[in-house]
Amino acid sequence: MAATILITGSTGLIGFRILLAALEAGHNVRYTVRSEEKAKVVSSNPAVQKLAPGERLSPVIIPDFTVDGAFDSALQGVTHVIHAGSPVPVPTYEPTTQIFQPTIKISRGLLSSALKSPSVKRVIITSSIVANLGPVPPPTPVSAATRVPLPDPIPSTFNNVFEAYLLGKVVELHNSDEFVKTKNPHFTVSHVVPGYVFGRNELALDANMVQTQNSSNNFLMLGLLGGEPPFPIHGGFAHIDDVADAHLRVAFLDPQPDGPKDFGIATKVDYDKLFDYVVKAFPKAVEEGIFKKGKLVTVPVNYDSSDIEKLLGGKLRSFESAVVDVAAQYLEKLGKEKA
Ligand SMILES: NC(=O)c1ccc[n+]([C@@H]2O[C@H](COP(=O)([O-])OP(=O)(O)OC[C@H]3O[C@@H](n4cnc5c(N)ncnc54)[C@H](OP(=O)(O)O)[C@@H]3O)[C@@H](O)[C@H]2O)c1
Repeated sequence: MAATILITGSTGLIGFRILLAALEAGHNVRYTVRSEEKAKVVSSNPAVQKLAPGERLSPVIIPDFTVDGAFDSALQGVTHVIHAGSPVPVPTYEPTTQIFQPTIKISRGLLSSALKSPSVKRVIITSSIVANLGPVPPPTPVSAATRVPLPDPIPSTFNNVFEAYLLGKVVELHNSDEFVKTKNPHFTVSHVVPGYVFGRNELALDANMVQTQNSSNNFLMLGLLGGEPPFPIHGGFAHIDDVADAHLRVAFLDPQPDGPKDFGIATKVDYDKLFDYVVKAFPKAVEEGIFKKGKLVTVPVNYDSSDIEKLLGGKLRSFESAVVDVAAQYLEKLGKEKA
């Protein structure tokens, strides 16, 4: 039977890149979106059109992912699930209702719906290294297998969006572990756990989108255009192409009882180096003042990505290559020469 992958979050940086990689690999892809307009964003995208997926690609409209049973019919006949559709810490979001609660509810609902679909073999959930690091990154190495103790009681209000995001990811990881232990599902569950993800985003169709509607790449763009993010950034990085490869590789893995279940992907970076890479690759654009040095403050993290390195069969893509890819896309959309 050919694989049919259900992907959530395909209107976002990571989900869309996974969707492209899944189509390139020849899989059938079903993607869930909240509206018809969002389905069009995906289906009309030039990178999707170029792949001419025809009937291999189909949308399912689910207006509210948090409703009980929301995924029941979408999962019929699906063999693999990749869940990348979850809130990120957007400063204007209400922390509890728009970040913490949906992070937990969507994942829980998806797993419960999968229990009712006998065709499902694997469920892959995109987490974040903050789920393993906790509020204060420890000096000792952390990996995707690390679990942060749950606070007791679990707070229901938060001081800011980042706190809500972090605890949402911590609780989601615990809940999914607990689900597997208590429900003994007919499918296996793994998490792919990236650090900050950077790289070319085909959803960004013009220079303004590359700069401001680009998920975590927005931070990189601040560093390239003389800005400064409102908070320091974890110095654990994942290239978007590695993140997509990792999701697909993990989705088709048969996890062994003595092998890793979850896979983290975050290599050490110092964001101070960011602008050096741009100066080296695009000296003319720097001279013309298109790129200006911004300030990204690095929170040092010590994260072990060796399991995913082994699984992907070698070294992960470099931070420099992600910076150059994003800067090149920005220049391309401005209609400027890259050299
Ligand atoms: N980017 C990173 O650096 C990074 C690092 C580690 C982990 N992650 C994780 O990776 C996943 C995807 O991140 P991303 O960078 O691709 O984010 P993104 O570009 O902001 O995309 C988020 C995706 O999730 C969907 N979504 C958000 N809130 C939702 C809700 N309440 N109900 C239904 N769908 C919702 C969005 O759909 P709409 O278009 O409908 O809003 C969109 O498709 C998240 O779980 C995030 O925590 C990201």
